[in-house]
Amino acid sequence: MSNLFRELSVELGERSYPIFIGPDLLGSMDMSPYVSAAQVMIVTNETVAPLYLERAKACFPGKRIDTVILPDGEKFKDWQNLNRIFDALLEQRHTRRTTLVALGGGVIGDMTGFAAACYQRGVPFIQIPTTLLSQVDSSVGGKTGINHPLGKNMVGAFHQPQSVLIDTSSLKTLPPREVSAGLAEVIKYGLIRDHDFLVWLEENMESLIRLEPEPVAEAIFRSCACKAEIVAIDEHEGGIRAILNLGHTFGHAIETYSGYGNWLHGEAVGTGMLMAAELSALEGMISRSDYDRIRRLILSAGLPEKPPAGMTAEDFMSLMAVDKKNVDGRLRLVLLRSVADAVVTSEASPENLALTFARFCS
Ligand SMILES: NC(=O)c1ccc[n+]([C@@H]2O[C@H](COP(=O)([O-])OP(=O)(O)OC[C@H]3O[C@@H](n4cnc5c(N)ncnc54)[C@H](O)[C@@H]3O)[C@@H](O)[C@H]2O)c1
Ligand SMILES: [Zn+2]
Repeated sequence: MSNLFRELSVELGERSYPIFIGPDLLGSMDMSPYVSAAQVMIVTNETVAPLYLERAKACFPGKRIDTVILPDGEKFKDWQNLNRIFDALLEQRHTRRTTLVALGGGVIGDMTGFAAACYQRGVPFIQIPTTLLSQVDSSVGGKTGINHPLGKNMVGAFHQPQSVLIDTSSLKTLPPREVSAGLAEVIKYGLIRDHDFLVWLEENMESLIRLEPEPVAEAIFRSCACKAEIVAIDEHEGGIRAILNLGHTFGHAIETYSGYGNWLHGEAVGTGMLMAAELSALEGMISRSDYDRIRRLILSAGLPEKPPAGMTAEDFMSLMAVDKKNVDGRLRLVLLRSVADAVVTSEASPENLALTFARFCS
């Protein structure tokens, strides 16, 4: 085992589970202890299958393995493709004791997790995330679901995995844009509550972009540890977990405006975090130099500074009003109380929100 191998645990009582992090784990790590019976259904997509499916199968020695290979893309995170997972499970006679395995990015992870939450009223599943974003965010915490034409992630369930296997070497085949998108969620952890990590990110961003094994493993470990800690406190997002949505209300508006898949989720979150930082500065919660520092870090990760050309303040207004984080018609946003301390608030003034849109929309 490489000396970069690390393990941590998501503490949720009897539903606690381990996260394994390290290089070259696919094909070498035995995951069969996390499979309850003989059957395994690996769900992946057309891009990931040729790269990693054979190695993923080797993680389940002695098991009867079936596979579903879905088309690749956010636009396929829908009922039709969810149903293809159920079709395969029923055609191959998978019982209530089967284990689903998600091999791919967040799209595959969210869909497979939701399929596992629903199939025969719930079966276990394992996450093998292969994008940086899914390794630091979507594979941990049990949020699963699919998109609806009227809203992203609007149909889903909480369903925790049995374990998460993060092979950091799988990032070598990831396009650079996807690496930057994943770094947005990594930066998010620093911004919401970990100043030491933020400083570490400022010092290591160049090596992270280059995917140097040691800093990459460290960034993934610290991100997962932060997410695991928050999920352990507030599994169903009744309170503190909402701070993980920093930049996401602005970001979802950008994603919806540009059409699923044109802007990557992490890219939209990167710009969204900048907009949240701008609003925090206008509200007097952080200083201008804090804002500049956040901007430098986000841009150094290769993330976009502005929303898509043509997107107006009115577009933001109408798209953010339908966001599911609204309670009683008041816009709840995650803002920054200091450079590494996020808070959920409905107090931001409409004038400052309008000013934020004006500054970002050209
Ligand atoms: N459940 C959660 O808590 C949570 C959190 C954040 C995001 N999400 C969801 O995650 C999704 C985004 O995830 P994503 O960014 O991983 O996107 P993705 O799943 O679409 O993957 C991005 C692209 O990379 C490809 N790919 C995956 N692994 C690869 C590899 N190792 N080498 C080369 N190509 C590879 C994929 O096929 C795809 O084309 C969104 O649907 C979002 O809603 C969920
Ligand atoms: Zn996100």
